[in-house]
Amino acid sequence: MATAGKVIRCKAAVAWEPNKPVVIEEIEVAPPQANEVRIKIVATSVCHSDLYHLLESMHKDGFPTVLGHEAAGIVESVGPGVTEFQPGDKVIPLFLSQCRECCFCKNPKTNQCEAAWTRIRQEVMAGVESRFTCRGKRVLQFMGTSTFSEYTVINQIAVAKIDPAAPLEKVCLLGCGVCTGYGAAVNTAKVEPGSTCAVFGLGAVGLAAVMGCKAAGAKRIIAVDTNPEKSEKAKVFGATDFVNPKDHEKPISQVLTEMTNVGVDYSLECVGNVAVMRSALESSARGWGVSVIVGWTDMHDIAIRPGHLISGRTWKGSLFGGFKGKDGVPQMVKAYMDKKLMLDEFISHNMTLDQVNDAIELMKHSKCIRTVLSVSPQ
Ligand SMILES: NC(=O)c1ccc[n+]([C@@H]2O[C@H](COP(=O)([O-])OP(=O)(O)OC[C@H]3O[C@@H](n4cnc5c(N)ncnc54)[C@H](O)[C@@H]3O)[C@@H](O)[C@H]2O)c1
Ligand SMILES: [Zn+2]
Ligand SMILES: [Zn+2]
Repeated sequence: MATAGKVIRCKAAVAWEPNKPVVIEEIEVAPPQANEVRIKIVATSVCHSDLYHLLESMHKDGFPTVLGHEAAGIVESVGPGVTEFQPGDKVIPLFLSQCRECCFCKNPKTNQCEAAWTRIRQEVMAGVESRFTCRGKRVLQFMGTSTFSEYTVINQIAVAKIDPAAPLEKVCLLGCGVCTGYGAAVNTAKVEPGSTCAVFGLGAVGLAAVMGCKAAGAKRIIAVDTNPEKSEKAKVFGATDFVNPKDHEKPISQVLTEMTNVGVDYSLECVGNVAVMRSALESSARGWGVSVIVGWTDMHDIAIRPGHLISGRTWKGSLFGGFKGKDGVPQMVKAYMDKKLMLDEFISHNMTLDQVNDAIELMKHSKCIRTVLSVSPQ
């Protein structure tokens, strides 16, 4: 490739400061170093975790940064020591690496790769290293990925190779939200056939959780959202009931318990709100209910009466739906290609990288499911 080994100047959306629109800038992307892969991003979608960093947690040391972690692209060049990838490979960046060597990667019970937490500084949600500069300043790589950019550089342990026939403008959704929600139901909650489930929050993560509950054979799936416009979409993915907590005087946990006699077998929180996390646990059945926290926040503690757990409920959390990325993402791409998994139905808007601020606004006001931004031509 003509660009291999050289600095690439390209377009990226730089978040200079918290709570401000991101700015389309020309950035410099250094060549990949040892074990790194430089990727041309073809399509990226916007996830609530991008908004959380920009508009909610607003950690000042986490800027300037290039957001974006749900994407698909094509390998442009590779650094020394890379054997798994070649220029031209179609790939999905992983915000959670799979090094295959640490004790977590070797344990089938978890996807918590040790390298992920040494590569990413959690307090600022950025890679320890960055290959980006802009206007003479070093720019952070959000979640070690930074996909709101025409090119990015990622360690090979955080890249999944996918079917070359996969449409990148669709399978980009598997880089975060859809795997997260689907896996939370199937891998973490381990939803059983014939069960009753409740999913709180019907963004792409929650809708994918609904889809996972359905795939696992749940007979009743109660979708819960404060936005009534989400009801129809939830039914597309398999919800049997829709409840808007704002339509009820009683706490939502009481509403769900009355609807199901004893509470649901499985509940999944896909909002990122500690009060909702508590409601989700309280909505699950005494004796056997399992509640999974999927929504993200690190700004508040959660509270619960011990009795709610002592009486036999289980409270769990799920990162990236429990999938080990290099193994799980290509399998989910195959499921989509085999028409066993919906993806197109999550895409409510298509835009270009230049319109990223419009996409952020849509999500801020709960007016979209997923906006896919086309970034570079294939
Ligand atoms: N655990 C993980 O690995 C992981 C991965 C991706 C995203 N997340 C998190 O999952 C959450 C959802 O992400 P998303 O991209 O689907 O977001 P989104 O903004 O598209 O959807 C959130 C939904 O929650 C609804 N909501 C808000 N308050 C509510 C309430 N009180 N009760 C019920 N519903 C309510 C909104 O109307 C919206 O439909 C975020 O917190 C995100 O950071 C976690
Ligand atoms: Zn995400
Ligand atoms: Zn590992």
